[in-house]
Amino acid sequence: MSVDIANLVQNDGSLVSRRAFSDREVYELEQERVFGNAWLFLGHESEIPEPGDFISRYMGEQPILVTRDGDGKIHAFLNTCRHRGMMVCRVDRGNAAAFTCSYHAWTYKNNGDLIGVPLHKDAYYGELNTKAWGLIPVAQIGTYKGLLFGTFNPEAPALVDYLGNMAWYLDIVLDRRDGGTEVIAGIHKWEAPANWKFFADNQIGDLYHVPFSHGAAMKARGLTPDNRRNFIHDYEGSMRFESRPLDGFGVGGRYVGPAEPVEDTFPPAPDPVIQDYYRNVHAETVARLDSVRSRVVLSNGTVFPNFSILPNNFSIRIAHPRGPGKMEVWSWCLVDKAAPSDVKDAIRRAYIRSFGPSGLLEQDDGENWERSTQGAMMRGAIDYPFNYEMGMGHEFCHDDLPGVLGKAESEGNQRGFYRRWAAYLNGDGTHGYG
Ligand code: FES
Repeated sequence: MSVDIANLVQNDGSLVSRRAFSDREVYELEQERVFGNAWLFLGHESEIPEPGDFISRYMGEQPILVTRDGDGKIHAFLNTCRHRGMMVCRVDRGNAAAFTCSYHAWTYKNNGDLIGVPLHKDAYYGELNTKAWGLIPVAQIGTYKGLLFGTFNPEAPALVDYLGNMAWYLDIVLDRRDGGTEVIAGIHKWEAPANWKFFADNQIGDLYHVPFSHGAAMKARGLTPDNRRNFIHDYEGSMRFESRPLDGFGVGGRYVGPAEPVEDTFPPAPDPVIQDYYRNVHAETVARLDSVRSRVVLSNGTVFPNFSILPNNFSIRIAHPRGPGKMEVWSWCLVDKAAPSDVKDAIRRAYIRSFGPSGLLEQDDGENWERSTQGAMMRGAIDYPFNYEMGMGHEFCHDDLPGVLGKAESEGNQRGFYRRWAAYLNGDGTHGYG
């Protein structure tokens, strides 16, 4: 191996080599050590509500088949036949008791058991031990309030321990109402000529870019500096919440003080149906989340390595790696399960207008990430690292909020992300920093 890991990320995370975003060997190493060990997002439980439901997913570049068996138990398997490797499932989703490989027709039950082998008696003389040739399971799967994750590492810590303080912040999105959340209206999927880390790096807490990259979109939505309070954060009161002790997770958001109007805790969607809904369920939200979390407004966040949330825009999303210069983004619209159908429809429209392939804000970010990836590949610039020094040494703690905080204009979350990424490259894939 010729990757010089020590020179990819400065110890404090303040400098990151352009090779981290462009070098093929670095990419292959992160496939093995990051995506081979971290907990990776597979989907939302609401996508497979019934026995027999299944979905096709990826963990890194590996195709995965997620099933709910006849007893309601969820499984995840590498989507590859044990005979010659053919994908056993070639559609996005459906309901099936079994999967028959299209090459030679070995058939697997939805719990992974091999239950059918053509000519088992005549060609294999009944000697093939079918019990030993079931689908290959993902080492561990886990759920957190509807979110389904998997890891290839059998020694990885339990999902809830992996999430650490991040679970406290995720509850603000996932546990607002009785019944939790669901995803609606399918998945947006698109490819982009960009390294996947620019996606995670942006959504873990880059609030610095918002007024500049999204200035035109803000104007188009009628958001001026005077009335943008809930769209671009009030810089005096805004904070970034970093989810330590597990570096590599983080959120961006704002802690709305008790003296401020409750409307400031609602998503900034300019739709009265959505605003009325949040007003109507506010008392229930306060009762479920407590008076602190019900006043934390999250705009963005990332669970290491590549799962992100955009609560203000009702999106959960993932950036699948597809090479050092390419990613495939999948995006879902997340709603409270108990919300009325007209509210869900209004949220779906707001989601489509902001992020996703047709969203005004996604267009801005997509170009940033594409051109940044090109910059990371420039031969003449390759030895000039990227700068992540913003806010360094100015982090602070808050009595009400877990983790380490910084002002909106800080790159502490990104420094943590790259420290954790480097730790995984070094083979320390089971825990973060204390
Ligand atoms: Fe699947 Fe042969 S490759 S049955």
